[in-house]
Parts: sequence; C-alpha cells; structure tokens
Amino acid sequence: ALERTLSIIKPDAVAKNVVGEIYSRFEKAGLQVVAAKMKHLSRQEAEGFYAVHRERPFFNALVEFMVSGPVMIQVLQGEGAVLKNRELMGATNPKDAASGTIRADFADSIDANAVHGSDSLENAAIEIAYFFPATDVYPR
Ligand code: CMP
Repeated sequence: ALERTLSIIKPDAVAKNVVGEIYSRFEKAGLQVVAAKMKHLSRQEAEGFYAVHRERPFFNALVEFMVSGPVMIQVLQGEGAVLKNRELMGATNPKDAASGTIRADFADSIDANAVHGSDSLENAAIEIAYFFPATDVYPR
C-alpha cells in the first residue's frame, strides 16, 4: 500500500555533508520526498519527539545528541514506505547494519547513527504530525 513515513537525517550525517547522498538512496528506492525542512531542534522538541524512550537509560544522551546540530526532517512516500525506509537505514546499531545500508555507510555509533525512521505505520502518522502540518505535505 502507498504509505508515508517520517525520516530524520541526524546531526552527525548533516555535519558529514551526506544529505544529498541519503536523499539519492530514498529516491532510487522509489521513495518520494513529499515534505522536508532543516531544523535545529530545541531540547523540548527532541524530548517530545522521543517521549516513548523517556525511561530508557540512553534517553539523555539521545536528546543531547539530537540537539547538537541541525537535522533534516522529511516525509517519505511510496509503496511500503515504512519498511522500505527501515531496510535502507539498516540496523539501529551500525555494527549490526548490513553492508550497503545508510547506517553501515555513514553511522559511527548507536547514538550517532545517521538517520531515524518511523518503526510502524501508526507511529509514522504520529511522527509526521509532530513536525509537519498537513498543509506542508505535498503528495503528487
Ligand atoms: P532512533 O531510530 O532515532 O530511535 C531512538 C534512538 O536511540 C536510536 O535511533 C539510537 O540512535 C538511540 N539509542 C541509543 N542507545 C540505544 C539502544 N540501546 N537501543 C535503541 N536505541 C538506542
């Protein structure tokens, strides 16, 4: 089915100047960028986005990292977009990520892991709405 998912290119990958290379991977896999913005997240925005992880031991480090520099936030649309994006990203820990995936190629650690992608269609809708009003999404 045609789906939308939320993708974030994290501060480490933005700093490495690989935004375009990562966008190319999305496009070559048949995903369209239907909304996008660069943003330096506030602490409050990062904490709110990752609220489901609030009790996890890595929460503070995660928030600290996500506010360390600007990120690129995009909505990707395509057939099976949620799973397709997760396959392109590879495993959360780059040590476990299959070769040829975004994290295998660009990530340095489980914290600085280059990209975020929604883990389910349900969370995708929540995450997209967190960053983009419906009027800022341009399906075609
Ligand atoms: P992300 O997909 O953005 O969702 C939460 C992030 O927490 C995850 O990617 C990792 O960058 C980070 N993280 C750090 N430690 C862990 C861990 N042990 N398990 C899962 N995520 C972790």
